[in-house]
Amino acid sequence: MKFFIDTANLNDIKEAYDLGILDGVTTNPSLMAKEGITGAENIRAHYKAICNIVDNNVSAEVISTDLEGMLKEGRELAKIDPKIVVKYPMTKDGVKAIKRFTTEGIRTNCTLVFTAGQAILAAKAGAAYVSPFIGRLDDISQDGVELIAQIRIIYDNYGFKTEILAASIRHTIHLIKCAEIGTDVVTCPLKVIMDLLNHPLTDSGLAKFLADHKKVNG
Ligand code: E4P
Repeated sequence: MKFFIDTANLNDIKEAYDLGILDGVTTNPSLMAKEGITGAENIRAHYKAICNIVDNNVSAEVISTDLEGMLKEGRELAKIDPKIVVKYPMTKDGVKAIKRFTTEGIRTNCTLVFTAGQAILAAKAGAAYVSPFIGRLDDISQDGVELIAQIRIIYDNYGFKTEILAASIRHTIHLIKCAEIGTDVVTCPLKVIMDLLNHPLTDSGLAKFLADHKKVNG
């Protein structure tokens, strides 16, 4: 299973990378705005800075919504670094752009996916990754984790190569359930990655080991 971090914050990306478990980064326009990154040049420079930290798989999302604009912007993003994966929304023009880039050998991530039908279209168009947003489905009382299970079955039925990238992960239970199902990738904020480290019995067990060692060794 690949582990991506869902942020545009360079310190968080460095911290996750230093843990030695990071396979990539997902960003979106909201996450870029949160870092105060504005203007095409600064945005490109920020993506380059992210690419300089990690080994591969940096999803960079287009802002354009029409096919021509999506292709132009996608090509500019792809030029920044070979690690870039161009992120397109699940729209009619988004699917067309994914298909075009697939034939040109440029990797894409189809984002804002909320149904199995959308995931089928993304796979048929040849997206490298499909991003179902499980937390946002939970927010509207639909089962986000169940969507990952549905897509897993469908992709396995037909041997689709598109990797399932479970996104909008809010807590460790989401992540673990997706791993049980067999998602190919998870993307989540640094907090969720760090929360995986924690258990009170680990803390109390370590405190006892150290105390016992100190009793006899001083
Ligand atoms: C994924 O690519 C998205 O950036 C992200 O997971 C959305 O998460 P959110 O629903 O917490 O904003």
